[in-house]
Amino acid sequence: MFPIVPERSTDAAQIENLLDITFGSERTKKTVYRLREGVAHVKSLAFVVRDPEGRVLGSIRYWPVTIGEQTAAVMLGPVAVHPDYQGQGIGRALIRHSLYAATRQGHRICILVGDKPYYEPFGFSNAADRGLEMPGWVERERFQVMELAPGALTDVRGMVGKAKAGRRSRAA
Ligand SMILES: CC(C)(COP(=O)(O)OP(=O)(O)OC[C@H]1O[C@@H](n2cnc3c(N)ncnc32)[C@H](O)[C@@H]1OP(=O)(O)O)[C@@H](O)C(=O)NCCC(=O)NCCS
Repeated sequence: MFPIVPERSTDAAQIENLLDITFGSERTKKTVYRLREGVAHVKSLAFVVRDPEGRVLGSIRYWPVTIGEQTAAVMLGPVAVHPDYQGQGIGRALIRHSLYAATRQGHRICILVGDKPYYEPFGFSNAADRGLEMPGWVERERFQVMELAPGALTDVRGMVGKAKAGRRSRAA
């Protein structure tokens, strides 16, 4: 497999194209995109896999969010792997690598909306069961959360919201 490397600003157009291929152009109608609008993704958690010709084969990004207005968290996604390269471990490697980086960087809670069978093995569990809510419709089973720091979800409840511009996503 090709190495996982930090995303560069010059990857942006290729990543948009990859997301169109994997999720379709209707993807921006989803609730998660309301939380991303006007907010920059977390640059230090944006990774890609490129082939030797520089083509982006896989990408993962995170967005800063809040829970219950007070608690900082990161939202995993989108993660995408080009259809010609799916099933070779790139997706799992991107997720593992970035979750490790998020933990090292001091982020304490990670949420996502995605397929439960894919994310459960990383340690995610149902977010609604923990008292978290999304500001729009999502399938309950797909809304998931994981503590990156033990106990980070203790007494944390409420609505996931957009991070304020310039606000750090880690609880410090
Ligand atoms: C989901 C995605 C990122 C996985 O990347 P990948 O590199 O193909 O995945 P990996 O090779 O690391 O893992 C493959 C394994 O995950 C499983 N898997 C892949 N997508 C899955 C899904 N949506 N739900 C459950 N399992 C899934 C495969 O069956 C395979 O299982 P196996 O190892 O037991 O055979 C990629 O398939 C993709 O871009 N899909 C379209 C976009 C998308 O749906 N992204 C978000 C997922 S919520």
